[in-house]
Amino acid sequence: MKDLVRMRTSLKEEIEIALNAQVKMESEASQKYLAMASWLDQNGFEHTAAYMYKQSDEEREHGLKIFKYINEVGGAAITPTVGEVQQEFGSMREVFEAALQSEIAVTNAINKIVTKCRQAEDYATEDFMMWYVTEQREEEKNARRALELFDLIDANSPTGKFELDKQIAKIGSAE
Ligand code: FEO
Repeated sequence: MKDLVRMRTSLKEEIEIALNAQVKMESEASQKYLAMASWLDQNGFEHTAAYMYKQSDEEREHGLKIFKYINEVGGAAITPTVGEVQQEFGSMREVFEAALQSEIAVTNAINKIVTKCRQAEDYATEDFMMWYVTEQREEEKNARRALELFDLIDANSPTGKFELDKQIAKIGSAE
């Protein structure tokens, strides 16, 4: 049955595998941000915690969008299993360094899918993935901006932590 269905789709198996891997990666990003939100919440950074909860929701949406696309084009979307994520952080800055690192890894993975799509002449999926290319540019920019704020605001000054909590939470809201 599955073979018959596959004959009716132009989705190549290697692209389907890559897309399912990306669903998993977006799901992991969502869980990572959820853990970061919790740490921020526990350490009194209520505004940045809210920002991270929102990031976590967005990552879930990113994964879901690919999940639905796979099924829409005749593939089989696989519900991802996510392993342990980092729960403890040494500082607020460490949280945002981990966030930037995660976004860069996602960007690299997205770029590899686009390259695969070109090689497989799957222009429909390439077109679909361009939304992610644009989104990653924005997300990396926001993560970098958060780290820049740590150079501008002294996290160890009496009001620094409070100010950082407010300013980082504003990132992205002006767009
Ligand atoms: Fe959807 Fe920020 O990766």
